[in-house]
Amino acid sequence: MKVEFYRHNLEEEDISRLVEVCRDVFLTTGTVTKEFEEKFSAYLGVRHTIGLTSCTAGLQLAMLAFGIGPGDEVITTPMTFAATSNTVMHTGATPVFVDVDPATALIDADAVERAITPRTKAIIPVHLYGLMVDMRRLRAIADRHGLKLIEDCAHAIESVRDGVRPGQISDAACFSFYATKTITCGEGGAVVTNSDATAETLRLFRQHGMSSNAADRYTGTYQHWDIELLGWKYNMSNLQAAMLIGQVDRIEPLWQRREDICRRYEEGFRGVDGVSFPIVTPGAKSARHLFTIWVEPSRRDEILTDLQRRGVGVAVNYRAVHLLKYYRETFGYSRGAFPVAERIGDSTLTLPLYPKLTGAEVDYVIENVRASVGSIPRV
Ligand SMILES: Cc1ncc(COP(=O)(O)O)c(C=O)c1O
Repeated sequence: MKVEFYRHNLEEEDISRLVEVCRDVFLTTGTVTKEFEEKFSAYLGVRHTIGLTSCTAGLQLAMLAFGIGPGDEVITTPMTFAATSNTVMHTGATPVFVDVDPATALIDADAVERAITPRTKAIIPVHLYGLMVDMRRLRAIADRHGLKLIEDCAHAIESVRDGVRPGQISDAACFSFYATKTITCGEGGAVVTNSDATAETLRLFRQHGMSSNAADRYTGTYQHWDIELLGWKYNMSNLQAAMLIGQVDRIEPLWQRREDICRRYEEGFRGVDGVSFPIVTPGAKSARHLFTIWVEPSRRDEILTDLQRRGVGVAVNYRAVHLLKYYRETFGYSRGAFPVAERIGDSTLTLPLYPKLTGAEVDYVIENVRASVGSIPRV
């Protein structure tokens, strides 16, 4: 058997919508983008969605919209994809890493508070694998110190914790629709915010600071446009939006299927020597974007190779960012700086997780992980 690491969930209705856009006049940002933005805002219960080309663009633009730049510090986690801290660097600010909680792999709120200096301007938590950080706690810390709170929600569209959903109590929340995310258009992203002023700045920033977009300019009579400020070119097109609209409608049943798969994995690995996994905080709804297990660090790479040989698609999410070459060389980081993140980065291994995974495939993965780790169930 071969179990792919990921398979997308584009249905015929998504493909038809895409073809419809191809047959129409506006391929770039227009009414379909707007329809997606309104649908996404309604799903999350937020005021504004700004469709972009990636989550990376969203993180960068959100920081820039809050005036973050050279001389500023932004606190974030080393247990994430490098986009989180790379975008801090893109603004000219300095990423300040703090360690993570050993049970969840999420940023440690106490460590965040200890890392705040007069130069700190923002906190960027990452809702890793789909489990949200304690947003009420981070909001209180941010408010106490006058900081912006920007969520990296690349893994967390469907998440809820303590009644809070992504984007509801932060200053901005950034999403990814990259090829392996729970809803996808290959490459795409969005920022959501409840602030009208932030939304207006982000809409200008995403398209060079132009006062109107292509659809506005060419619908009806030609209108002159102006450059109101210096912006970038990160606008989501009608093509990307067309692929996403139907997926937003189907998002909850797709989540339910992933939840069922994760429970089957958890059942299959509970009590198995040499395998553990991050806990889902009681009362929280994880988006269940990734299912990662933790194995003995000295054996992780061997198990990774063995599982691929057995036909199980795997990935590593993530090796700790501060130990990657650029960060080591730029900031002089070495082992020991953030021991919890380092241990997780050395022991983590991600298994296939997507709605099209069959029960037989899930069982095949469980069986082969158990065989590969070479463990026997505890009695
Ligand atoms: C935690 C995290 N943040 C940010 C990103 C960047 O998303 P994008 O590829 O849409 O820029 C990713 C993508 O994998 C991610 O996993």
